[in-house]
Amino acid sequence: MSSPCFISGLGLHLPRTTMTNADLERIVDTSDEWIVTRTGIKARHFAQDDEPCSVLAYNAACKALENAGLAPQDLTHIFVGTCSGDYNLPTTACLLQDMLGLKGLPAFDLAAACSGFLYGLETARAFTSLYPDARILVVGSEVVTARVNFEDRTTCVLFGDGAGAAVVTGSGNPGRIKVVDAMLKADGSVGGLLTIHGGGSACKPRLGQTIGPEYFVQMNGRDVFKHAVRCMAEISGTILERNGLTAGDIDLIIPHQANIRIIEAIAKKLDVDMEKVFVNVDRIGNTSAASIPIALTEAVSTGRIQPGMKVLLSAFGGGFTWASALLQF
Ligand code: UT7
Repeated sequence: MSSPCFISGLGLHLPRTTMTNADLERIVDTSDEWIVTRTGIKARHFAQDDEPCSVLAYNAACKALENAGLAPQDLTHIFVGTCSGDYNLPTTACLLQDMLGLKGLPAFDLAAACSGFLYGLETARAFTSLYPDARILVVGSEVVTARVNFEDRTTCVLFGDGAGAAVVTGSGNPGRIKVVDAMLKADGSVGGLLTIHGGGSACKPRLGQTIGPEYFVQMNGRDVFKHAVRCMAEISGTILERNGLTAGDIDLIIPHQANIRIIEAIAKKLDVDMEKVFVNVDRIGNTSAASIPIALTEAVSTGRIQPGMKVLLSAFGGGFTWASALLQF
């Protein structure tokens, strides 16, 4: 029996620049019609040079703290899910810790690609069990467009930048959203279908070398699509079953926002009407680890989620990693 875990505050931040499909038509051989029909995406936000991952994370974190009625000094830990941090070192979590003025506070990044926020949430759940008074800042922040090849039309139209944050608390500080359960999964055997190889120890940078396509997102879209649908549908079914629930008991499903066709396929597999599925991929695109906390924050702030509702989150990303969480409002 796990000890109670809560989300006490939520916040999101989007970069100021919006890129529409028409804007992308001017830089790559694509069309609004192709992007909308194949992905459902109409626009996304692109971070500028003064908006690196840590700055997006900081802005989302401040809003989550305000929403929780807390000050930075009330926090006990910082976890940041990202695959597009400011640098290899220092970590984005340490940069964020410094920006919040929290010298000494433990802070680390979680590398689980698009599942990064849910990996962070489950890690926070474990920490709150160990430290019931913990108040943990869990952030998903990404500037994926920094790692996108704008000469590769099969990937560059999909991604956007942004950040979402949650303050996760334990039994010592009950919050208004209960984290009922969470599950994490991974399968490294198929990780080669979605990669950013360049710069790692197996794909070393050399002084003065030309940066090649291996330094950017490379994806076998069709295969990733199939894995994403199967994994998110399966893990959603498993977490529901483990909690004695069926999809019909869920008031809102918030899946990773990568592609409207993936989202619709998951809804079909779970036999859930699209009215019960949250969608913002049309305005936000795929923001990787930021996708779930941005969507969750929007769903709460727009009144789409009301007290008493059960909400199911599910994510899928490079690695492969996938995850799910069940929330009771
Ligand atoms: O967040 C991590 C998880 N990531 C995902 O979940 C992404 C999963 N994959 C997908 O969402 C889809 O596979 C894509 C949106 C990436 C691609 O859609 P698709 O329906 O699988 O298209 P495709 O890759 O099979 O390509 C179909 C055609 C190709 O042309 P030919 O070979 O049939 O002549 C592509 O060259 O569409 C072409 N194409 C484009 N055309 C215009 C690919 N990208 C574009 C583009 N604009 N941006």
